[in-house]
Amino acid sequence: MDRTAQLTTRATEHAIAYDPPARGDGLHVRAARVLAANWTGNATVPSRSLYPHQWSWDSAFIAIGLRHVSPLRAQTELETLLAAQWGDGRVPHIVFNPSVPLDAYFPSPDFWRSATAGRTAGAPRTVQTSGIVQPPVHALAAWLVHRADPVLSRSRGFLARVYPRLAAWHRYLTHRRDRGGGGLVSVVHPWEQGMDNSPCWDAPLARITPAPDRSFRRADLDHGAAEDRPTDLDYGRYVRLAADYRDGRYADGEGEFAVEDPAFNALLIASEYALARIAEELGAAGTARRARAQRLTAALVERLWDPAAGMFLCRDLGGGQGLVRERSVSGLIPLMLPGLPPEIAATLVRTLRGPHFGFGPGPGDRTRLVPSYDLLGEAFDPHRYWRGPAWFNTAWLLERGLRAHGEPQSADALRGAVLHLADATGFAEYVDPYTGEACGATGFGWTAALALDLCHDLRRQPHPQPYQELVKGAREGVSSAATGTFDTSDEGGDRR
Ligand code: SER
Repeated sequence: MDRTAQLTTRATEHAIAYDPPARGDGLHVRAARVLAANWTGNATVPSRSLYPHQWSWDSAFIAIGLRHVSPLRAQTELETLLAAQWGDGRVPHIVFNPSVPLDAYFPSPDFWRSATAGRTAGAPRTVQTSGIVQPPVHALAAWLVHRADPVLSRSRGFLARVYPRLAAWHRYLTHRRDRGGGGLVSVVHPWEQGMDNSPCWDAPLARITPAPDRSFRRADLDHGAAEDRPTDLDYGRYVRLAADYRDGRYADGEGEFAVEDPAFNALLIASEYALARIAEELGAAGTARRARAQRLTAALVERLWDPAAGMFLCRDLGGGQGLVRERSVSGLIPLMLPGLPPEIAATLVRTLRGPHFGFGPGPGDRTRLVPSYDLLGEAFDPHRYWRGPAWFNTAWLLERGLRAHGEPQSADALRGAVLHLADATGFAEYVDPYTGEACGATGFGWTAALALDLCHDLRRQPHPQPYQELVKGAREGVSSAATGTFDTSDEGGDRR
């Protein structure tokens, strides 16, 4: 039996039965319960067991769903994260909760030592954080949170308070992280891109000498199955890279690992469009930000598009600056961008439906939800974290993309799969893409939040949701809220 046939047999044996939610009423309540259970008073943990602190991109996705339950809590979620921003503009990937024991999560605050090692880079004194970043979903989240209750948002001055921090965050990325010099942002650690053990990192990570096994203790294995998690060898390399960055006082520009990633940059571009809308809401111009989003999109296409693969690939800035020949879901995420050339968008949709990802609305489709990595790739593993399992945040981003590029049938199918699998698995962290079987933690924050968001869309149909409005505004290059004048300054859109 060949590999595809084996996997298909397995899929039929273990499949979770498909029972589409009607209007998602029960799901709405169950998802809101997860968000309530993970709420700490000023932020939401991704998982009470595996991730007991505040994570940066998790919080942004969580705020997007939380806005339907409590716009105030959603605003607070983002404000808490941004309050931990460093002086150089970086938004740390973890904000530690001081009441959680040190050994509950590794690497803990005493590994990162933000207050001392991060002092030159402007780490906050009152809260402990990690020193690396995560994908910039925050401006997009802030805009969507604002749109959920503009009256509350205006009365609290929400956008006026977060805007300067979001602008500084984007400035940090575009000014300090363009390691390749081609206009794109690079990540300096696999944890920064968020898809920790993606096969895309195998080659760039192979150059890193791992930290010795005995120099650290993994806390993740106390809560998650070893076969669902990255390996010890991966962890040795993660620890080495993070320790080297810390020991260099978190200064940018050196470092053995630097990769330009399609999803990270696509999320920056989407957030740049959102920042343009936020600027306009505050009475400033968004034109320069929109122009920057277009320039970033052009750089993304120029540096990462691979016509032969029919998708975007990562660029490894070490070892000869080549494209990494691995197909990850990251390379499909730019579909969410309004300014993508139509032929590229059409090719991405074909790739999503083709043999490497196998998703579509038809009865012959092989995957339940979009896998994180190439179904036909050598490294594919349906259970191991980002080496094959399907995740709900990437499904949400692709659902937005399919809808933005005129594929409502596929978008509906993906939304249906998210709603069903999120609920059927107890809001799993990720699932086997063939069977829908739960992997990792359950009661996972962004799974609940994003299912809740899509559930809300389903109920509001046919009214366009705020992301579609953002796409429309970006395409037209103007927004109905625009009141500012043309601004060519570097930080166009800053409040003047
Ligand atoms: N995702 C990483 C972890 O598993 C770090 O952000 O802990």
